[in-house]
Amino acid sequence: MKVLLIGSGGREHVLAWKIAQSPLLTKLYCAPGNGGIREVAECVAINADDIDGLLAFAKKESIDLTVVGPEALLVAGIADRFKAEGLAVFGPGKEAAQLEGSKAFAKEMMSKYNVPTAEYEVFTNENEAKHYAIEAEMPVVVKADGLAAGKGVKICESSQEAVVAISQMMSGDLFGEAGKKVVVEQLLEGEELSVLALTDGETIISLASSQDHKRAYDSDRGPNTGGMGAYSPCPQIGDDVFNRVMETCVAPLIKGLAAEGITYSGILYAGIMLTKSGPYVLEYNCRFGDPEAQVVLPRLKSDLLQVMKEVADGKLQTKVLEWHEKACLGVVMASGGYPGHYENGFVIQGISAANSGEDVFVFHAGTSSDADGKITTSGGRVLTVAALGGNLRQAYDRAYDALQKIQFDHSYYRRDIGRRAMEVLR
Ligand code: AMP
Ligand code: GLY
Repeated sequence: MKVLLIGSGGREHVLAWKIAQSPLLTKLYCAPGNGGIREVAECVAINADDIDGLLAFAKKESIDLTVVGPEALLVAGIADRFKAEGLAVFGPGKEAAQLEGSKAFAKEMMSKYNVPTAEYEVFTNENEAKHYAIEAEMPVVVKADGLAAGKGVKICESSQEAVVAISQMMSGDLFGEAGKKVVVEQLLEGEELSVLALTDGETIISLASSQDHKRAYDSDRGPNTGGMGAYSPCPQIGDDVFNRVMETCVAPLIKGLAAEGITYSGILYAGIMLTKSGPYVLEYNCRFGDPEAQVVLPRLKSDLLQVMKEVADGKLQTKVLEWHEKACLGVVMASGGYPGHYENGFVIQGISAANSGEDVFVFHAGTSSDADGKITTSGGRVLTVAALGGNLRQAYDRAYDALQKIQFDHSYYRRDIGRRAMEVLR
C-alpha cells in the first residue's frame, strides 16, 4: 500500500514510525514531515495547508491511503476533496470535523444526544456574553468557538476575569474569526483523561487511555499549551469507568451524528473530566492527540495501517486492538518562551545517544535538519522523548534518563510527567 501522511509534528512522527512497521506498506511519503520523520518516510515539500498540491501529489503517485494528522486541514474539508476524487483518506469530512472546528456545534450535539458535559451558553453578542458572565456563578470557562491551537480556553475565577476574556476573544484580537463566537461554561473538577476511538461511523473500537499535561510548568502551573507530556495507560481508571466513558461519551455522539446524516470516520479524541458525578466531556478533537499519540501508539501491537484502511473504506472489521502490557511515558522538550514567543535555530545535540536506549523513542516535532544531518529547533514543542517500561515508574526513569542526553539552548521541560499517577499506584 502506498501511503501519504500529512503533517509535521510529534504526532505525525509517531504515526509515520508505526505505519512504517506495517507489512502492508510499500511506500510511505510524508508532507512536509520533519527532521525525524525523514528517517522513516520520504518527505515531500508540500505545505500541510496546500490541499490542491496534496491532491495532485496523491493522484500522480497513485496513493492508496492518505492519513491526515492536523485538525485544520480536516476542518477545511480535505477528506471530502480527496473522496470526491476517489481517493481513500483517513480522517473525518468537513461536517464531522466541526466537532473540533466549532465548540458551539460540539456542545449542541452533546446536549441533543445526552452526552454529559458542562452546562453552557453560546454567544455571538459581546454584551450578552458579558451580562451572562456577571450573573453566572464563578468560576466559569470562556472558550473561543473556532480553532485556536489549544490556547482558546480561559478559566476565570471572577466575573472581571471573564469579562476581560470575553472582550479579548470577541474583539477578534486574540484568535480572529475563531473568537467571534464564544462558549461560556461551568468549570468541572476532577482528573483529566484522553480517550481515543477509531470508527467508520458505525463500528467503534477504543484505544488505550492516556493523560496529557496541558500546563506549561510543574504542578500544573503556568499557561495552557498543546501538551507538555503524557503517559498511557491511566491507572486512575479501571475497565468499568473506561467502558462507561465509551458508552456515555463516545458511542452516543457517533450515533447522534449518524442520525444527523453525518458519518464520523477516522479517530475521535474525547477529552474527559472524571468528576465526582461521573465522566464529562470537555472537548472533542477530530485527530490523534499530541503528545498522547506518542505514548499510546508505541504500546500498540496491532497493525495500525490495516485498521486505518478499514476505517477509510467504511468497513471497520477489526474488533479489538492488541496492546503491549508495558506502560509508556513521554516528555516534551520545548523552546524557552513557548507557548508565548520563542526563538528558533538552536542546534540540538544528543538525539542519537538518547535514542539508543532500550525502548526509548525520540519523536521530533519542531525540528529541521540540513544536508549534513545537523538538527536545529524550529518550533515551540521541539521533541517528545518517550519510553516504554514494565511499569509507569520504569517508563518515567527511562524517558527522563534519555532526555538528559539531549541539549539545545533555552530548552525547558516538565519534571513531573506521570508523577500523580505513580502516587495512585503506590
Ligand atoms: P479544551 O480545548 O476545550 O479541551 O480546553 C483545554 C483545557 O482547558 C482542557 O484540557 C481542560 O484542562 C481545561 N478545560 C476546558 N473546559 C473546562 C471545564 N469546563 N472545566 C474545567 N477545565 C476545563
Ligand atoms: N494534547 C492535546 C491535544 O492534542 O489536543
